[in-house]
Order: sequence, then structure tokens, then C-alpha cells
Amino acid sequence: MLAVLSQRRVAIIVVLLMTIGWVIYLISTARKTYVPGSELEIAPNRKPYYDDGAMEGPRLTRFLWWAFVTMAILAVGLPAYWLREPFRQQGKGFDRGVAYFHDTSVKRGKELFEASPGDPPTPREPHFGCENCHGKEGVGGVAAYNVSDPLNPDAPPKAVQWVAPALNTVMLRFRPEEVKTIIVYGRPQTPMPPWGVDGGGPMNDQQVNDLIEYLKSIVLPSDKVKADNLAQYGADGQKLFEGFCARCHTQGFSYGEPGVPGGGAYGPSLTGGSTLRQFPAPDKQVSWISETAPFGKAYGARGISKGAMPHFGAMLTPEQIQAIVDYERGLP
Ligand code: HEC
Ligand code: HEC
Repeated sequence: MLAVLSQRRVAIIVVLLMTIGWVIYLISTARKTYVPGSELEIAPNRKPYYDDGAMEGPRLTRFLWWAFVTMAILAVGLPAYWLREPFRQQGKGFDRGVAYFHDTSVKRGKELFEASPGDPPTPREPHFGCENCHGKEGVGGVAAYNVSDPLNPDAPPKAVQWVAPALNTVMLRFRPEEVKTIIVYGRPQTPMPPWGVDGGGPMNDQQVNDLIEYLKSIVLPSDKVKADNLAQYGADGQKLFEGFCARCHTQGFSYGEPGVPGGGAYGPSLTGGSTLRQFPAPDKQVSWISETAPFGKAYGARGISKGAMPHFGAMLTPEQIQAIVDYERGLP
């Protein structure tokens, strides 16, 4: 019933009923004639009530029986409700189960991800157009952006094409809560805007969660991604670094003006032996790159994870990660 009637229609019906009620009440009060002093008879607290004998007789027993019946309904009804709950969640019979709610969440996420079909956009099904930058179904794309030079703030900003990473593998390299943080706060100083209310964007928590469910639904199988990456990059440390790391660790790499390799951008500088100091044992560096660490946990000799660095254990083979580590440890 409620699904058929929209919220607005329900509200209109409620307001109508209330208005009719008020009109009836006003008319009936206006028709009553008031004689001074009559409140002595009509006020409820002035009427004589039952005496003690009448109150504690069969009347009391009747009320107690009613209390017993309603309590018995609760006592039997609640367990019966809980008994049914697991089947309800599985979606047996008339019920729509958890799978149904999951599917509708993915569907809403897909709509949010897609570009708006109409102009002006339909307000009931918002589309935030992630695909305008990240490509259809998150295959990756580019975003137009203006970069300004911090050393030369008065110079006009420069228009560049900034690579927007593929998102059909993003759930392989970030934990869901990390993806949520990226979507809510965006990535300042890049074309990625904040989308969540907490970051100053338009999306509520439900919408961000729907998007994450959608991103989970389009994720490519880890085995296939690993095989493709092996075919494309082999175990060449430098090529792998440029393919997976430089966009965050080399200034300007995303718009075709790379600065010092590994010199630091969003991710810290890895040059000048800094990874040797952070990871005196190379195997700790391998495990950081394969798994990273959850937000707030320690890594390396003096690191505290911000949950901002992707992990690559589900996208690259151990040999490839070893090759990247060797390359990084050799960065001048
Ligand atoms: C105006 C273009 C643009 C739009 C629209 C956009 N993004 Fe982005 N997004 C980017 C760029 C560019 C990056 C990479 C920034 C960088 O270089 O660090 C990015 C990064 C990301 C990342 C991190 C990926 C990674 O591996 O580092 C996620 C997740 C993401 N975007 C999700 C979304 C979602 C979800 C939406 C839609 C609500 C969206 N983006 C809309 C441009 C955009
Ligand atoms: C989406 C951006 C991003 C990408 C891509 C990325 N990193 Fe990082 N990386 C970071 C951030 C941010 C940190 C800082 C970690 C923190 O504070 O949680 C970091 C930290 C590191 C560190 C530790 C540095 C130190 O001194 O503490 C190493 C080593 C590292 N990254 C290597 C890599 C390698 C290798 C790759 C590619 C396989 C890579 N990163 C890809 C963002 C990125």
C-alpha cells in the first residue's frame, strides 16, 4: 500500500483527514449551547463515580482478564515474529529477502554512478555522473582540470587532462571503508571532488553505501586482473611503478608532466633511501604494498596508516611486488 502511494500522496491524505476532523469538531462545538454553570454537570471530574464495592467486583475481574489476554497475545506473538524472521530475511513466500534489498541497493548505486539521462535531471533518481570521468562501468577515463603552480600563484592555471583511475578494480585495492572515505572527502588538489555530506558534497550516507555496493558488483575477478597485469607489465619494476604507483608518488604523473620519479605527490616521497629507513627489512615493505594496514595501525619503522594507500596483493603477483620493491629501494 505504502509502496503504491507515494509519500507525498500519503501526506496529502493525512492533511485532508485532519482538516475534515477539525471542521467537524468546530461545527459540533459551535452548535452546543452554553448555559453558565452547566460545567458543574458536564465536567468529567464532577460526575459521581462507582463506589468501592462496584469497582472491586466483577468489573475489576473483567479488566484483569483483558489485561491477561493482551499480555498473552504479546507473549505468544513476539516469539512467533522472531521465529519467522530468518525466513523473512531469506525471502521465502511473500517476503522480499536480504538479496532483494541488496539488488535494489546495487541498482540505486548504478544510477548514481551513471551520467544523468535527462536535462534537467529527474530529482527522484539522482545521477552523479561518476562515469563522466571514470568511464562507463568504471573502466577508467580522463578529467579536464586546471592546475596552478604553487611557486607562481599569480600565473594563470594550466588546463590539463588528468587520468581518472579504473574503478572496476578499486575494490581489489582498497578496503570498503577506505573507498567510502575517498568518495565522501574526494581527493583535494585533484579533479576528484568530495561527494559525501561530511566532505561538503551532495550525497547522504545511504547513497555512498549504494555506490560502494555497485562498485563491488562491477569488480573484475582477481585472477583475471593478475593475469592481464602480468601479460602487460611482466616483472619490470620501473614499468610496474609507473603503471600502479607513480600517479600518487610522482608529482604531475597523472597529467603527463612527471617530475622526479617517486619524488612524492599525494603519496610521500620514496626517494633518497627513505624506504630503506621506513622498512629496514625489505619483506616488511613487500607486505605493506601487498596488504597495507587499516586506518590508525602502525607500519614500517615509524609509519601510522591513514588508510589512503591501496594494497596490491589482489592485483599483482608476489614476484611483481618484489620487483617494485627492488626498484623503489634503488630510487636515488
Ligand atoms: C570530475 C571528474 C571526476 C568525477 C565526476 C568523479 N571522479 Fe573519482 N576521481 C577522479 C580522479 C581524477 C581521480 C584520481 C585522483 C588522483 O590522481 O589521485 C579519482 C579517484 C577516485 C577514487 C580513488 C581511486 C584510486 O584508486 O585512487 C575513487 C574510489 C573514486 N574516484 C570514486 C568516484 C565516484 C564513486 C564518483 C561518483 C560519485 C567519482 N569518483 C566521480 C575524477 C572524478
Ligand atoms: C592512491 C594513491 C597511492 C597509490 C596508487 C600508491 N600509493 Fe603508496 N602511499 C600512498 C599514501 C597516501 C601513502 C602514505 C601512507 C599513509 O599515510 O597511510 C603511501 C605510502 C607508501 C609507502 C611508505 C612510504 C613511507 O615512507 O612511509 C610506500 C613504500 C609506498 N607507498 C609504495 C607504493 C607502491 C610500491 C605503489 C604501487 C604498487 C604505491 N605506493 C601506490 C598513496 C598511494
